[in-house]
Amino acid sequence: MGNENRKFKRYTVTSALPYANGPLHIGHLSGVYVPADIYCRYLRLKGVDVIFIGGSDEHGVPITIKARQQGVTPQAIVDKYHKIIKESFKKFGISFDIYSRTSTKIHHETAAGFFRTLYEKNEFIEKTSLQYYDEETQHFLADRYITGTCPHCGYEKAYGDQCENCGTSLSPNELINPKSVLSGNAPVKKETTHWYLPLDKYTPWLTEWILEGHKNDWKTNVYGQCKSWINHGLQPRAVTRDLDWGVKVPIKEVTGKVLYVWFDAPIGYISATKEWAQQNNKDWEPYWKDKETKLLHFIGKDNIVFHCIMFPSMLKTEGTYIVPDNVPANEFLNLEGNKISTSRNWAVWLHEYLEEFPDKQDVLRYVLCSNAPETKDNDFTWKDFQAKNNNELLAIYGNFVNRTMVLTHKFFNGVVPEIGELTELDKIVLNEIKTFPEKISISIEKYRFREALNEMMNLARLGNKYLTDTEPWKKIKTDEQKVKTILNISLQICANLSITAKPFLPFTTDKLIKILNISTLKWKDAGRTDILSAGHNLSKPSLLFEKIEDAAIEKQIQKLLNTKKENNDEKLKVNPSKENIKFDDFTKLDIRIGTIIEAEKVPKTKKLLKLKVDTGIDKRTVVSGIAEYYKPEDIIGQKVSVLINLTPRKLKGIESNGMILMAENHEGKLCFVSPTEKFSNGSEIK
Ligand code: MF3
Ligand code: ZN
Repeated sequence: MGNENRKFKRYTVTSALPYANGPLHIGHLSGVYVPADIYCRYLRLKGVDVIFIGGSDEHGVPITIKARQQGVTPQAIVDKYHKIIKESFKKFGISFDIYSRTSTKIHHETAAGFFRTLYEKNEFIEKTSLQYYDEETQHFLADRYITGTCPHCGYEKAYGDQCENCGTSLSPNELINPKSVLSGNAPVKKETTHWYLPLDKYTPWLTEWILEGHKNDWKTNVYGQCKSWINHGLQPRAVTRDLDWGVKVPIKEVTGKVLYVWFDAPIGYISATKEWAQQNNKDWEPYWKDKETKLLHFIGKDNIVFHCIMFPSMLKTEGTYIVPDNVPANEFLNLEGNKISTSRNWAVWLHEYLEEFPDKQDVLRYVLCSNAPETKDNDFTWKDFQAKNNNELLAIYGNFVNRTMVLTHKFFNGVVPEIGELTELDKIVLNEIKTFPEKISISIEKYRFREALNEMMNLARLGNKYLTDTEPWKKIKTDEQKVKTILNISLQICANLSITAKPFLPFTTDKLIKILNISTLKWKDAGRTDILSAGHNLSKPSLLFEKIEDAAIEKQIQKLLNTKKENNDEKLKVNPSKENIKFDDFTKLDIRIGTIIEAEKVPKTKKLLKLKVDTGIDKRTVVSGIAEYYKPEDIIGQKVSVLINLTPRKLKGIESNGMILMAENHEGKLCFVSPTEKFSNGSEIK
C-alpha cells in the first residue's frame, strides 16, 4: 500500500530540531541534515512546491541542568547555542526555508493551542502518581535531576532515566540510594497530577497505518523499531512535566507545569511553518492539512518512536492534520571506531572543522553522504575523508572538469566547439548521459542518498574515461574535427554534472556554473546533450577541489589522540576541591595522633572494623570502614590520625567515637594517614 507512486501537490520536509544546548557535530549532519538537504534541493530543481523546516529545540531538562551548572538562565543557554547552530547550518549550505526556534511566541501559542484542543476533546487521561520531590528546594525531580546507583551495574552516578555506564534505560524508582541533583538530599515521594496521551488506545490505528500500510516503503530499521514498540504493547505517555522551563500547561488552575519537551518540539515544525507563511505571505495550512501534501520527517534513530508513534498519534487525534508519508531515519555515525560523545568531546565539531578547512564544506558533505549510516551504524575516519577527497572528488570529478575546460581553452579559446560526425563510442556515451537523471532520481526518492551520490559520480567517471579513451590532446594534431566533437560531448557532461551534483555539492556546482558561464538549470534539463550550444563562451577554468595533504590529516588525528589522552587523565583525576571554609571552622577540628591497640571485624558486615584507639587522652572505640583494605591482626600498633571530637554515631549497634583519617591511593585503596616522625599519642594536628 506504499505511497511511492502517488503524485503529491507539495512537500513538507522537516528535520529534527537539534537541542540548543551544544554545537553541532558531523553526526548531526550525516544522519539528518545532509540527506534532508539533498532531498529538498532535488525537489526544488524539479520545480516542486516544497518547504524545508528546521529550528532549535529549546526546552527540556538537559538545558535547565546546563544552565544551573553554568549559573545562567536557560534562556541564555539557548540564545547562545541557537546562534551557533544556525550559523553552522548556513555555512554548510543546509537550505532551510525557515530555521526557527521553540522559544518563540508563535510556538508557545501553537503548542499550547494543540494541547488545549486535545484536552477539550477529552483525549488525555489525567493521572495522579507519586513522584520524587526535593523538599529542600521544593521541586519535583525530573528523571535527569535524580542520580543514584544503577541496579544493573552498580555505577553510582546513573540518572533517573538511564545509566550511562551500562546503557540501560531506567526509571527513577529503580535507582538505589536516589539523590536529588539540586540539593544532594534523598528525595521523598509526593503526589502529582499529569496528563497522559493514551498511546495504547491508538494501537489498532497504528497497526493498520504503519505495520500494514508501510511495510514496503518504510526503511527496515524504522519499520522494525515501530513493530517492536507496537508489539510490546504501547503505554499511556505523560505529556506534561513538573518544571518551570517550557510551554506552560494551558489549564487555568495549573501552575508549575509545562508540556513535555517531546510533546512541544514536534509541534515546532508546525509553528515554524506558520512563521514562514507569515513572512512569505502564504497559507500554512495546506502544508499540514491537505491530503495531497507529502509530509516527511528526517531524523536519527533515537527519534523514531516520537516521530512514528507519538507525534502521528497527536496529529491523528487532533483530527485536522495529515500524518507523515515516510520517516527516513538514519542510524548513527561513529568517529574513528568510537561512539560520538559530547561529554567526552569525541566529535568533529562543525565550527572547528570550518576553521581547519574553510571552503571545504562540500568535501565534508560528500564524505558524510557517501558514508551515511543509512542501514547500519557507520564510521567516519580522517583517512577515509582524505581518500575520498583526493581519489574521488579531486581525481574524478575535479580532474574531468578541469581537463575539459583547459583543453577547450587551449584548442578553441574557451568557445564551445561544434559537434561533428559521431563514432560508435560517441553514440554510446551520448546515450549513457541520458540515463543518469532517472537513476539518480529513483535513488533519491527512495532515500538512498549514498546510491544516488555514487550514480552522480558515475557520470563524472564516464566523462573521465571518455577523455582517457579518446585522447583529444593527441588527436589535435591529426584530426581537429574529432577533437571538437569530443570536447563538445565532454562539456555537455560538465553541464549535466552542474545539475545532477547540485543537491549534493551545492558550493562546487555554483563554481561550475560560473566556469561554464551558464545560469542555473532545472532537473528536467539533466540528460540533455545540447545544453551548451556551439559558440558559447566559457569562463576561465579554476580548480574545483584541492589535494588534502597528509599533514592536515595527521593534525586532526593527533587532536583526537589528545582528546583520548585527556579523557584517560580525567579518569585518574582526584576530586575537585571543596568549598572554602573559614579558619575558625578548621580550628574546630580536634585531630590527634593515636595508636590502634585492638581491632576486630564487625560481624555481618563487609567493610567495618571495630578499633580501640589510644588517643593519648583516652582509649576509645572507633568503627572504621576499612575492612576491605586491612586485616585486624595487621594493624595492631599502627600509628594513625584520628578526629576525636566528631559527634558519636552508632554503626551496627556499636558507638563510634571519632574517625580515623584515611587517604585513597592510586589503586583506590584507603590507607592510613600516619606520621613518618615519632610522635607520642595525643599530639595535636593543627
Ligand atoms: N531535540 C531532539 C533531539 O535532538 C529532536 C527533536 S525533533 C522534534 O534528539 F520533532 F521534536 F522537534
Ligand atoms: Zn548501569
